[in-house]
Amino acid sequence: TRYSRVIGTGGYLPSEILTNDQISETVDTSDSWIFERTGIKSRRIAGSDESAASMAEIAARQAIEMAGIDAEEIDLIIVATGTPDRVYPSTGCLLQQRLGIKNCVAFDVQAACSGAIFGLSIADQYIKTGAARKALVVGSELCSRIVDWTDRTTCVLFGDGAGAILLGAAEETGILSTHIHSDGEFEELLYCPNPQAAPNGHPHEPGYISMRGNEVFKVAVNTLGRIVDETLEANDLDKEAIDWLVPHQANIRIIQATAKKLKMPMEQVVVTLENQGNTSSASVLLAFNEAVRDGRIQRGQVVLLEAFGAGFTWGSALLKY
Ligand code: ACO
Repeated sequence: TRYSRVIGTGGYLPSEILTNDQISETVDTSDSWIFERTGIKSRRIAGSDESAASMAEIAARQAIEMAGIDAEEIDLIIVATGTPDRVYPSTGCLLQQRLGIKNCVAFDVQAACSGAIFGLSIADQYIKTGAARKALVVGSELCSRIVDWTDRTTCVLFGDGAGAILLGAAEETGILSTHIHSDGEFEELLYCPNPQAAPNGHPHEPGYISMRGNEVFKVAVNTLGRIVDETLEANDLDKEAIDWLVPHQANIRIIQATAKKLKMPMEQVVVTLENQGNTSSASVLLAFNEAVRDGRIQRGQVVLLEAFGAGFTWGSALLKY
C-alpha cells in the first residue's frame, strides 16, 4: 500500500500588522468587543504588490526546502483560494510558473475556508492511487481585499496569509483518512459576490464578504462536532489517540467547543488566530506549519486538522506526522 506523508510545510504572513485598536479608529468597535467575541487581537494585511500567487510561492518554497527535494519532482499542485490573482489562469498554474515546474498538473479548488482540507483530500487520493508522487497543497488568501472595511461585523475577523503542505508517497502511514462535505443550502448565510458575473437580481452587489455570523457560528459548532465523530469512527480511534488538534481559525469559541468535544485541553490545540485573524483556507496550513516548526508537533504524533466555511463546506484530515 501507498500512503501520503507530510514531507514539508511552509507559511507566509505579510509584514503589516493591523490591530483591533487601529480598526476601532475607523469603525464603531473596540479591542475588548473583538477579543472577547473572537479571540483576535491583530491580523496581517498584504501590501499592494502582493497577491495570492506571490504569497503562495513563498510558503511553497519553504515547504520544498524543508522536504529537501527539487521543485521539478512535484507532479501535482493544488491551490485553495477565494482571492485568485486572475479568474484564469488558475493560481495553481501561476504558482507552477513561479516555481518553474514543467511536468506537473496544477489547478485551484474553491471551498472557502475548507479549501486546504479539500486540497489535502484530493492530493491524498491522487497519491494513494499512484497518479501522483509529490503533491503540493497551498492555501493563499487576501481576505483584506474582499472585506468591506466599513462593515464592523466582518472587517474585524479576517487576515491575509498563505500556508503550504508538501505530501510525498510513502510506504508508511501518513494521512490516515480525510472526510469532506458540502451543503449548498446555506448560500445566504455566508457569501462573497463576483460582481462581474453576478446573476439577475444581484447586478451591482459589491464583491465583499457578507455573513450572518451568529447563524454561521451555530452551524459551525454542530458540524465540527459531527466531523470529529465521523473521523474517529472511520479510524476506530478513541479521543485520547489524538495528540494535536489543528483547527480552522475563525473564532476561539468555535475552537474551544471542538476541543471540549474531544475532551482535549487547550494546550493540545494549535491556536494562531490571536495575531492572524481568520485567513480562510490558509489558516489550518499556517497553524500546522507553525507547530511543526516550533517543535510542538513531532514525528509519529496523530494530528486532526479540520475546517468549516462558506458553501457550507467542511472537512477533516487525520494524519500521523
Ligand atoms: N464591534 C462591536 N459590535 C459589533 C461588532 C463589532 N466588530 N460586530 C457586530 N457587533 C454587534 C452587532 O451589531 C450586534 O449588535 P445588536 O445586538 O445591537 O444587534 C451585537 O454586536 C452582537 O452580534 P452577533 O453577531 O450576535 O455577535 P456574535 O457573538 O455572534 O459574534 C461573530 C459575531 C464573531 C461574527 C461570531 O458570530 C462568529 O465568529 N461567527 C462564525 C464565523 C465563522 O466561523 N465563519 C465561517 C468561516 S469564514 C468563511 O468561510 C469565509
